[in-house]
Amino acid sequence: MKRIIDLITEELAEAFEQAGYDRAYAKVTLSNRPDLCEYQCNGAMAGAKAYKKAPLMIAEDVVSKLENSQCFEEVSAVKPGFINLKIKKEYVAEYLNQMLADEKMGLETAKEPQTIVVDYGGPNVAKPLHVGHLRSAIIGESIKRIARKMGHQVLGDIHLGDWGYQMGLIITELRIRKPDLPYFEEDHQGEYPEEAPFTIGELEEIYPTASSKAKEDEEYRKEALQATYLLQNGHKGYRAVWNHIMNVSVADLKKNYERLNVHFDLWKGEADAQAYIPDMIEWMKKDGYAHIDEGALVIDVQEETDTKDIPPCMIQKSDGASLYGTTDLATLIQREQDYKPARIIYVADKRQDLHFLQVFRAAKKTGIVPAKTELKFLGFGTMNGKDGKPFKTREGGVMRLENLIGEIEEEMYEKIAENRTVAEEEAKETAKIVGMSAIKYGDLSNQAAKDYVFDVDRFTSFEGNTGPYILYTIVRIKSILNKYQAGGKTAEGTRMDVVCNESEKALMLEAVKYNEVIETAFEELAPHKICAFIYDLANAFNRFYHETKILAEEDERKQKSYIALLVLTKQILENCINVLGFEAPERM
Ligand code: ARG
Repeated sequence: MKRIIDLITEELAEAFEQAGYDRAYAKVTLSNRPDLCEYQCNGAMAGAKAYKKAPLMIAEDVVSKLENSQCFEEVSAVKPGFINLKIKKEYVAEYLNQMLADEKMGLETAKEPQTIVVDYGGPNVAKPLHVGHLRSAIIGESIKRIARKMGHQVLGDIHLGDWGYQMGLIITELRIRKPDLPYFEEDHQGEYPEEAPFTIGELEEIYPTASSKAKEDEEYRKEALQATYLLQNGHKGYRAVWNHIMNVSVADLKKNYERLNVHFDLWKGEADAQAYIPDMIEWMKKDGYAHIDEGALVIDVQEETDTKDIPPCMIQKSDGASLYGTTDLATLIQREQDYKPARIIYVADKRQDLHFLQVFRAAKKTGIVPAKTELKFLGFGTMNGKDGKPFKTREGGVMRLENLIGEIEEEMYEKIAENRTVAEEEAKETAKIVGMSAIKYGDLSNQAAKDYVFDVDRFTSFEGNTGPYILYTIVRIKSILNKYQAGGKTAEGTRMDVVCNESEKALMLEAVKYNEVIETAFEELAPHKICAFIYDLANAFNRFYHETKILAEEDERKQKSYIALLVLTKQILENCINVLGFEAPERM
């Protein structure tokens, strides 16, 4: 369906034309004086110069052509030349009825669906998942769902950090602790054990221990670097250890992401890119894209129009080791070969923006991806604690993701148990669902690029701009609809027939924005716009609810219209939270 704002603009364009003016002046926007009107058009002011006429005269000419409009209840020209518009109730109701009848609720999905890869999550294997990776998971999952809702073919790829120095560290520490394991035998013959020589708990202890040892002990560090090198160059025993690390960690990661309701289509990682690196380096040298600079192999990516220095993209260190940029370029070769995506969206910490700029330019310059492929970096800010510093545990350590989730669930459980008489079991389940909304909405309601403060008290509140408030509103609507249906009537299939009061119309005017909001959120990769929209919608609904007797309404025609509006509002809210990555409980 066309956006309502475009339909209104068309109506105005007709009037401009009939009055002898260019249609292009007929741009309509939401009113910035909601006390006076609902929409406005400032085109008369814009046209004044061209027509050498007072803007008010133009506005009046246009208004005179709108007298019999099907669209407006009130149209007025006001000084110095605004056209104020109030839309007809029947017109809005009809638009909403069409939304109800359409399975996409008016959304214009892509005419030519694209293949889009969303690269998000990006955890580093064997290191515990911490809150830094939370943002990437939450934002990326939402971007993936929004793109899918828009009809695209979307692949979410976790892009594991599974090939770096941390692997060398773990191998080194394991070797010191258990030197007799077959992985470390010089000339081991045959198979290696199937069972991993550590549990996830041990693994999580081994990594930080090794990492701090390496910082203090130069010998140890060199050994770890050497182990990394050997692993990357095909050492059989180390590769077997690597496989164990992967199996143990990935199982744990899956559990954690599952809990976050984050699902990846592809579990590829940096290691999968290795196979493409030697060839890539070879032809980059041969074709003259890469050259040696201070011992390292680099690709120049500076462009003439740059106002600052953009350092070259490094693809091989002097010791032959590959780098972060190397794996990202090689991964692009693999993605191009396997999926030919029209677009790839990377969701990572905004401090990586130079890295992605270099990689994107190098990829385009060398033809790894065609010029038309859109490579997009969506960088996010830091999640801070109330002290304004990166979020930490009370003891000052790095907060593990599962502990953070646990803490929120605990807080939610107390709030739910406090003023309700639900069974413990149900309260626990509900706390999980509502807790997830608190975390995700708390994050997504901020513009991704901005830092934000993770405030447990605020995020878990049932009031204000929070996930629990949105869920509370949905649950309220569900409860009204259930009561309505308990009386033997059906809510499905009702239509908006009459519009009776002011708060009802205000709610309708919010609901009509659904398609525009989702489309814009996709174009701008901006889930926060969906949050802002559902907050307004929830507010409009709650105002309507407080001012209107719905279940006690005796006029059946009125009641049916209310019910239809409730059904639609619920569907909109549910669709929106679904693309944000959380869901609503039945009761709370
Ligand atoms: N593993 C990286 C990190 O923890 C994030 C990966 C982002 N994706 C990419 N293709 N580079 O910082």
